[in-house]
Amino acid sequence: MTILVTGATGNVGRNVVDLLLRAGADVRATSRNPETLDLPAEVDARRADLTDPKTFQQALQGVDKMFLYNQPAGIEGVLEAAKAAGVRYVVLLSSLAAAGRDPDHWIARWHRATEHAIEQSGLSWTFVRPGAFAANSLLWAGSVKQGRPVRLHYAHSYLSSIHERDIAEVSTCALLQEGHDGAKYHITGGDSITQAEQLALIGQAIGRELAFEDITGDETRAELRALFEPRLQELIRDGVISPADKPGIIETRIRYYEEALDGPEDIDPTVEKVLGKPARTFAEWAVDHKADFTN
Ligand SMILES: NC(=O)c1ccc[n+]([C@@H]2O[C@H](COP(=O)([O-])OP(=O)(O)OC[C@H]3O[C@@H](n4cnc5c(N)ncnc54)[C@H](OP(=O)(O)O)[C@@H]3O)[C@@H](O)[C@H]2O)c1
Repeated sequence: MTILVTGATGNVGRNVVDLLLRAGADVRATSRNPETLDLPAEVDARRADLTDPKTFQQALQGVDKMFLYNQPAGIEGVLEAAKAAGVRYVVLLSSLAAAGRDPDHWIARWHRATEHAIEQSGLSWTFVRPGAFAANSLLWAGSVKQGRPVRLHYAHSYLSSIHERDIAEVSTCALLQEGHDGAKYHITGGDSITQAEQLALIGQAIGRELAFEDITGDETRAELRALFEPRLQELIRDGVISPADKPGIIETRIRYYEEALDGPEDIDPTVEKVLGKPARTFAEWAVDHKADFTN
């Protein structure tokens, strides 16, 4: 049985490749730039771009199952190519946003578009829907390494950030075991703490107290506009949003931060149900990523 992993350079995808190899699976990995893949020789690495389905025709030959990154532009063509090649099962890296708290939000629409195409495809599937990634904190690494205070957007807002290894473990379970067909797994990290507490845990992991600035209101708006702009331009290009949606997208994020000041989020038990062990905590993520925060 051959399993194809898209996004094999990604935080989650490279962990899926690693876990599948440890389980003895036959793995094929794709990237738009396969020369950047640093994988064991037994992995068959191919060039493929989800926005250009014909690049998948060769990569999918002989594949039974696939781990898919979300990219609605081109998804119908990719699924057609998968069916033609004999693929039976797709595990999609989706998002908790797709679960519907705010169905008009662009992240929800962006992931639901791909989920809908998969539901209509006739393939079997599992949707893995994580909340915020702990890996988002890698954005702080530059300031930490340079000894500058980290600019935290709403420093005292709570997050139950999930370790990419847990996302990959749940995805790998769905790829290798029976019984996950049609499941929509809503998964969070093992604890809900504030961003300031997350930064303190990174400090503990690297043995240094880390300073931060609490950035709120218009200052956050201005930084989010700059941070989001490249991604929003891609979404406008792909027809997911229109330019008129941009201010609302920033305001929704501000509203989420403000709501998250109220207290800890619920910890979802799904990781434990699927894996038989609790989701990793942020402290564990910080220890695993010490090297990313040190020179
Ligand atoms: N960050 C969060 O808090 C969060 C929360 C919920 C869900 N998510 C989901 O998780 C995804 C990010 O996961 P991650 O952190 O593992 O990714 P990542 O480290 O940011 O890497 C992105 C991956 O996507 C692949 N990719 C991007 N465009 C592609 C295309 N056109 N064709 C083929 N592959 C493409 C890239 O592959 P190459 O560059 O090698 O081609 C790369 O491996 C988001 O896109 C979202 O769907 C994120």
